[in-house]
Amino acid sequence: MSPDTEFRGRLALVTGAARGIGAAVTRALVARGAHVVATDRDAQGLDRLAADRPDHPDRLTVRPLDVTDPEAVEALVADVERTVGPLDVAVNVAGILRSSPVTALRDEDWAATFAVNTNGVLHVSRAAARRMVERGTGSIVTVASNAAGIPRTGMAAYAASKAAAVMFTKCLGLEVAARGVRCNTVSPGSTDTDMQRALWAEAGSTDRDAAARRVIEGDLAAHRTGIPLGRIAAPDDVAEAVLFLASDRARHITLHDLYVDGGATLRA
Ligand SMILES: NC(=O)c1ccc[n+]([C@@H]2O[C@H](COP(=O)([O-])OP(=O)(O)OC[C@H]3O[C@@H](n4cnc5c(N)ncnc54)[C@H](O)[C@@H]3O)[C@@H](O)[C@H]2O)c1
Repeated sequence: MSPDTEFRGRLALVTGAARGIGAAVTRALVARGAHVVATDRDAQGLDRLAADRPDHPDRLTVRPLDVTDPEAVEALVADVERTVGPLDVAVNVAGILRSSPVTALRDEDWAATFAVNTNGVLHVSRAAARRMVERGTGSIVTVASNAAGIPRTGMAAYAASKAAAVMFTKCLGLEVAARGVRCNTVSPGSTDTDMQRALWAEAGSTDRDAAARRVIEGDLAAHRTGIPLGRIAAPDDVAEAVLFLASDRARHITLHDLYVDGGATLRA
């Protein structure tokens, strides 16, 4: 099957779709034939996404959704299945990053981070998996982070929340494998989105190129190795990995964690 049509007739739910990696995943899925229910807590961002993609209005449905609310997630998934169709693919992209050294970390920042990055993944994956196992088919992809696999200063809450999301997704994958549902994670490194730019601004940098260069070169004093491939990822680089894992090309892959970080975590 041509990659341009490989998702034809498939229905996908994407969270965190208003911008960055979620928007890239949504655009790529629509371009390859899927109908995407694009969700985000930012309703205006979703409207912008829809306005930017006038080419396939019939294949893009936008629905506001806060993934931290389990009842709202269950209600939305039930409504989508009733009114649009059975979900073939669910992609967890919604995420937040609040950086702080642990000694200064506020309880509310820890809780908010886990509420989105970990609990949100539970809510969406559970609602999707319940229905997918009944049909004996489906694919769930969670966008985690390479910070889940390597300690980082100032990122304990974020890294721990992402490590939990990775292990949760693997355990879910094990439970549903015999029912024909695959569950995988994609772990990006530094990717050029609003989240990454906010991090650079927090570090006091207003010059995008200089900030990117520092990330690429690494900083031994901060125990950061740099990016061997010498570039910051584009959102499309991450979307490509998500689409592969969501597609039938990955039909024999489950419980996998695919790093898309240009070698930054030096994983063998
Ligand atoms: N940008 C990076 O360098 C990078 C690196 C590794 C992992 N990631 C992960 O990739 C994912 C996407 O990141 P991004 O860089 O595109 O971020 P972004 O901040 O640009 O976009 C995140 C989106 O998630 C939405 N969101 C946040 N909380 C939500 C909630 N409770 N319910 C629904 N939507 C919510 C936001 O409104 C936003 O549209 C995140 O999970 C992030 O942790 C990003």
